[in-house]
Amino acid sequence: MSSSSITFVAQSGQPLSGDIRVPGDKSMSHRSIMLGSLAEGVTEVSGFLEGEDALATLNAFRSMGVNIVGPKAGRVTIHGVGLHGLQAPQDSIYLGNSGTSIRLIAGLMAGQQFDVTMTGDASLSKRPMNRVAIPLREMGAIVETEEGGRPPLTVRGGSQLKGISYTMPMASAQVKSCVLLAGLYAEGQTRVTEPAPTRDHTERMLRGFGYDVQVNGSTVTLQGGGKLTATSIDVPSDISSAAFYMVAASIMPGSDLMLRHVGINPTRIGIINILRLMGADIELSNEREVGGEPVADIRIRGAQLKGIVIPEDQVPLAIDEFPVLFIAAACAEGQTILTGAEELRVKESDRIQVMADGLQALGVDAQPTEDGIVINPGPIGGGEIWSHGDHRIAMSFAVASLRASGAIHIHGAEHVATSFPGFVELANSVGFNLRVIEGA
Ligand code: S3P
Repeated sequence: MSSSSITFVAQSGQPLSGDIRVPGDKSMSHRSIMLGSLAEGVTEVSGFLEGEDALATLNAFRSMGVNIVGPKAGRVTIHGVGLHGLQAPQDSIYLGNSGTSIRLIAGLMAGQQFDVTMTGDASLSKRPMNRVAIPLREMGAIVETEEGGRPPLTVRGGSQLKGISYTMPMASAQVKSCVLLAGLYAEGQTRVTEPAPTRDHTERMLRGFGYDVQVNGSTVTLQGGGKLTATSIDVPSDISSAAFYMVAASIMPGSDLMLRHVGINPTRIGIINILRLMGADIELSNEREVGGEPVADIRIRGAQLKGIVIPEDQVPLAIDEFPVLFIAAACAEGQTILTGAEELRVKESDRIQVMADGLQALGVDAQPTEDGIVINPGPIGGGEIWSHGDHRIAMSFAVASLRASGAIHIHGAEHVATSFPGFVELANSVGFNLRVIEGA
């Protein structure tokens, strides 16, 4: 995966225009494979994201004996084996760049009768796993990590799990989902309380598969020992992928861009809320519900953005969108301040440091703080950017190039394929000016 290196040469483009659909939601694509595999019956998925991360999850379940047909044009057919039907994989499971895969699958593996070791690429191998190992051990699982709680992560089989009441120390949907998925195999009730609302796709999709999940304020509860019943899932476009185009159209005067069928789950719409606070022109239409998830068409027109103090309650709702929001801030009028976002330091890269370094390399005044950043907008120049194994860094600087006075060379852009296959073609079709150099 992501074997040959790619550099984007990104240059100032046109005002954006077009009517496009970005690929399927990554979070939902992962979960559709996991729950479909463990359901009884055949699950049909459409709109599946054929990016490397979601494919890593798909291959993991194939390696545990699940017959999965596709993906073909976003369609996947999963022949579920039931909660107790997985088989030991022949080898360790390689999950590439994907934190969602390793953390959610860890929860499911805690309930199996066999041992599994999960590995990843250089970026994933640096990411913290104690946040899932600690609650899983409390449930009775045997979980081993490398020093410092890093992958490879081994989960031993044969433990009888017991339900726990877990209060998460950080707002993380991956941790919440890991514990809830282990809870499917636990005796009694599993309860997770979150410090702030995080994406709730696991809860919604479990219900879609007929599993009873109770939500009371910030606490989610489920009872072990039930079953999942196959269903069909229509995955909407990923608002986190749409975000690059939302910022791009906002910062390019004269833009008018339509994004179709985008997921607007209330736990994901921080990008819309924050951009609107900055003065963006965003219009939602055709709002509807598809398979338990709200969806809309989103029209964005160019607007003069202004710098803001980003409300901390929006941070978990926009957690993946900050790299591109920093580009919006660099193009705004007045200072933008972000606080309460220390989780950004443990994503695919340290997104506070890597974005600050990149913005500074292009001449923008961006000062990292422990839990955020302070950005004073100014002209964006050309320069060299390293994306540090992080797809969202590469795409964010591609957006920055729209307003840059010179070419931006973005190294390590091969990781864009983890979440957004076809990014360059789609971007160029609406007004970007991106060139790809392979093997750079
Ligand atoms: C995800 C949760 C978030 C997000 C990631 C996907 C998920 O991670 O950053 O891209 O699908 O549950 P955290 O739970 O670590 O915040």
